[in-house]
Amino acid sequence: MAIKNKKKILITGVAGFIGFSLARSLIKSKNYYVVGIDNLNTYYTKKLKVKRLDLLKNKNFKFYKIDLLEKDKIHNLFKKHKFNTVFNFAAQAGVRYSFKNPKSYTDANIIGFINLIETLKTFKVDKFFFASSSSIYGDSKPFPKKENSEVNPINLYSLSKLSNEQFAQSMSKLINTKMIGLRFFTIYGPWGRPDMMILKYLISAYKSLSFPLFNNGNHFRDFTYIDDAVQICHSLIKIKIKKKFDIFNICSSKPVLITRVLKEINKYSKKPLIKKKARDKADVYKTYGDNKKILNFLKYKVEFTNHNQGVKKTCEWFLKNKKIFN
Ligand SMILES: NC(=O)c1ccc[n+]([C@@H]2O[C@H](COP(=O)([O-])OP(=O)(O)OC[C@H]3O[C@@H](n4cnc5c(N)ncnc54)[C@H](O)[C@@H]3O)[C@@H](O)[C@H]2O)c1
Repeated sequence: MAIKNKKKILITGVAGFIGFSLARSLIKSKNYYVVGIDNLNTYYTKKLKVKRLDLLKNKNFKFYKIDLLEKDKIHNLFKKHKFNTVFNFAAQAGVRYSFKNPKSYTDANIIGFINLIETLKTFKVDKFFFASSSSIYGDSKPFPKKENSEVNPINLYSLSKLSNEQFAQSMSKLINTKMIGLRFFTIYGPWGRPDMMILKYLISAYKSLSFPLFNNGNHFRDFTYIDDAVQICHSLIKIKIKKKFDIFNICSSKPVLITRVLKEINKYSKKPLIKKKARDKADVYKTYGDNKKILNFLKYKVEFTNHNQGVKKTCEWFLKNKKIFN
């Protein structure tokens, strides 16, 4: 199929975990042409980002090294490509790091996000999906969290995500693009993030480093397998969206205790030295989302991967690819 007949999709943060995983899945189909941008920052090892981009070498994919702060370059990119759909996954992720380097959050997550939305004023884009986060719910009860539950961001990362939602909602009244926020809950799997628990534990074991275990691992996370999140994004591209603005939880709705996940990893890997740490002020005790809204909207049943299967696949991937982390 000629490129001009394919659906053109922009993915920002395409060298990152979720952006890469979605791009890799979309370019397998002859219906999509994916343009990806990323600033390839060194928040975690650039080697992993470069390796992910390597896997995307395909005639249905084009990469540009662009920072969301480079407004003119973004403008020119939209002018050149006439995107049908945009996924904004570029961001400074991580909750604990927001106390160390707050400016990286205001730059990428707030100014960068505004730059992107400003571009939508000029160019006609059908759908704009952007990554929000489960962390905006904070520690308030009751569970599971619904999209209309109270929000209570307890760090700059979650505050930046909540501000994205609010800004998108207000701009959706002025711009003719459907704006959809995706509140991701602990996405994990092969090619995942080395700053997140599962890979961090595996890397610590591999490199004989100590693994910081906060609050004795007494936290619950609604672990959501990457392929399930990608499948949902795929469906959202195809489905007709009527509302100008909406928000969806993207979660398996099955919270698991951290210590249980660590026990599961131990079946496949040697154990790292555990360094017990007090509960971190950036961490919430539990994340547990309600996923009925997205499932009803998509009108099909997503068979979420259970955490045992997901952890197994992640560990197997790591054991094959651990040299990336040397
Ligand atoms: N992985 C999760 O569990 C999770 C949970 C909730 C929300 N999210 C959100 O989903 C999105 C994707 O997360 P991820 O896990 O893939 O993170 P990631 O860190 O792997 O990917 C983000 C990518 O964005 C790039 N980037 C950062 N700032 C940029 C900028 N100013 N301009 C261009 N590129 C920039 C980074 O280089 C990185 O490759 C993020 O917005 C994140 O906050 C992720």
